[in-house]
Amino acid sequence: KKSQAWSALFSEPMSELVKRYTASVGFDQRLWRADIDGSLAHARMLAAQAIIGAQDLADIERGMAQIVSEIEAGTFEWKLELEDVHLNIEARLTQLVGDAGKRLHTGRSRNDQVATDVRLWLRGEIDRIAPLLGDMQRAMVELAAQHADTVMPGFTHLQVAQPVSFAHHLLAYVEMFARDAERLADVRKRLNRLPLGAAALAGTSYPLDRHAVARTLGFDGICENSLDAVSDRDFALEFASFASITMVHVSRLAEEIVLWMSQNFGFIDLADRYCTGSSIMPQKRNPDVAELARGKSGRVVGHLMALITLMKGQPLTYNKDNQEDKEPLFDTVDTVSDTLRIMAEMVAGIVVKPEAMERAALRGYATATDLADYLAKKGLPFRDAHEIVAHAVKRAMQQGVDLAALPLAELQAFHPKIEADVLPCLSLRGSLEARRVAGGTAPEQVRAQVARHRVRLG
Ligand code: ARG
Repeated sequence: KKSQAWSALFSEPMSELVKRYTASVGFDQRLWRADIDGSLAHARMLAAQAIIGAQDLADIERGMAQIVSEIEAGTFEWKLELEDVHLNIEARLTQLVGDAGKRLHTGRSRNDQVATDVRLWLRGEIDRIAPLLGDMQRAMVELAAQHADTVMPGFTHLQVAQPVSFAHHLLAYVEMFARDAERLADVRKRLNRLPLGAAALAGTSYPLDRHAVARTLGFDGICENSLDAVSDRDFALEFASFASITMVHVSRLAEEIVLWMSQNFGFIDLADRYCTGSSIMPQKRNPDVAELARGKSGRVVGHLMALITLMKGQPLTYNKDNQEDKEPLFDTVDTVSDTLRIMAEMVAGIVVKPEAMERAALRGYATATDLADYLAKKGLPFRDAHEIVAHAVKRAMQQGVDLAALPLAELQAFHPKIEADVLPCLSLRGSLEARRVAGGTAPEQVRAQVARHRVRLG
């Protein structure tokens, strides 16, 4: 009795180690629904083209329905010696319906089958991840909507730079996640082509109707070159790139959340349900969720490296190397989904501490640029104004006070053009409101951003 699909040629069985080493059923069973959907579309087309009989198709449909219920009930017996999800399902089908099961693979190879399955499966996952990116953006936009007037220090080099609103800062991330969503939609576009019909690599002599199968499975078209169809994994690389960039955005946000929650910043607090304590230090509440999100970006970037390296030395067309695409891809999908879900929830529960943000903004001479702009608007060349303000800041530092706390007479000593109307420029509020340029941090600009995002996100 044959123990493998190809074994007539083989004079000895595989060693146990080789069996275990080459099998993928332990993880690729996750593709089962895509595999069955692909097989049914193929079988219906085979029947429509009179390559198999109507009764064969009916038998295949009946058998597949049975297999679906077995898998869903957890009673389906996955066998290591049947190597992968494809051979397991086909073998069970044949067991259930006999010859019709053996006709299913007409004009098909596991090479175009697996390429189709992975695309179908990933497309479904993309359609689940896209709304999560929407939820993430909505959570950020709604938090931002409450904080167009909440001043915090904006940083460069992690040194206080200029005042910005907390809302403006949050909306910077919304821009990033909006680009991620565009990238994801773009991945889906190029992914959504049908490999099936390429067979092993060269196409097939059966009169397959590839376009009909593409329509049945919701693909926008077919892979036009059979060699490319079975060997291309660009869609996985593109998805992993999308996921890596998204996770890097999440990681930067997570890093800021960790910083903001630390005692030295004290800008925000997180709900207890997103924190953990310490087994030794009774006072601790740690932002573990944010730290893990930051950490998990590493594994997703690692998966991108694994996948891209997997492809680099492969001669056309299919090579078994490709079986290694699955675990990184699966884990990427799981990690990015869970991370987006938990971060959106956590962001919605952020407690903002405006006084601490304002105190921090007052500590770093954040309005020094405003004073230089004030002088430049009164006719001084900006470079001269910059130098004059540097002296004023130095004086304020020596006295341990903010620029706004220097008496007007003292400021005037730096330049006579400094007059009483300088005071609003030196306040955080005045600085914020002055930045009315499109995309600037002025509250009216930020409110316009919020409104735009709300419309875009529906
Ligand atoms: N399990 C295989 C994979 O993931 C399916 C395709 C195998 N094809 C082959 N000719 N060995 O790539």
